[in-house]
Amino acid sequence: MLGTINPAFDEMKLEEAGTRGTPKSQATHYLLLYTLVRMYKPRVAVEIGTLVGCSSAYIAQALRDNFYEQGDTSYRGHLWTFDNNDEGTFPRFETWRRVGLSDWITFIFGDSRKRVPEVMSKVVKEVGVGIQFAFLDGGHDIWFVQPDADNVVRFADKRDCVFAFHDINRLQDCDKVFREMRNRPYFKDGYETMYFPAWNEIGVIKKALHPRPLYSNRPGGF
Ligand SMILES: C[S@@+](CC[C@H](N)C(=O)[O-])C[C@H]1O[C@@H](n2cnc3c(N)ncnc32)[C@H](O)[C@@H]1O
Repeated sequence: MLGTINPAFDEMKLEEAGTRGTPKSQATHYLLLYTLVRMYKPRVAVEIGTLVGCSSAYIAQALRDNFYEQGDTSYRGHLWTFDNNDEGTFPRFETWRRVGLSDWITFIFGDSRKRVPEVMSKVVKEVGVGIQFAFLDGGHDIWFVQPDADNVVRFADKRDCVFAFHDINRLQDCDKVFREMRNRPYFKDGYETMYFPAWNEIGVIKKALHPRPLYSNRPGGF
């Protein structure tokens, strides 16, 4: 099934599983990320926690599929992914090149707590919209996940954004930040919360300005 998105991903997933020894956990969350990006069609996507670049590839593949489906250059999305582990540890650039996604991803090295505000303040100005999709999967302790979540919200497109929090069922601090965030009065207004149960459950807070169904402009649409 994964191969229907990009056949090269099957091989990539095996590498990832080998690195982390958690093969079962991966399939659902990668497919979920792909689906969310296909549904909400962000122009500015952020990922905190790149590791080998596998989740980045699924997000980027969805951005690419959005672009070719829409045939509208104003919809071209891009992913900025942050990690404090450099390319020396994992061959992420080679992985992205191999699956044809290098042009859709910018890797930012360093502590996300510092780098996200530095980089995204510039990106948001240049692109003209805030962060419209964020996957939070970097440091999982409170002193990482809290500032990461706050920074993503700070630079978000407040009318149209999707935040996906990884590991909310397994790790207390991720769950705590997710719950605190979705209970903020700000998010109660027009935002929806969704849970995706899996070994490493994902919580999503979203506010979509326009419903953007999958395959909306496919000839003969369904
Ligand atoms: C769980 S892994 C990411 C997995 C990846 N998103 C996936 O699904 O394939 C977490 C990553 O966050 C990175 N990380 C942890 N703390 C960080 C920080 N403060 N700044 C940037 N990256 C950080 C780690 O180096 C690690 O690669």
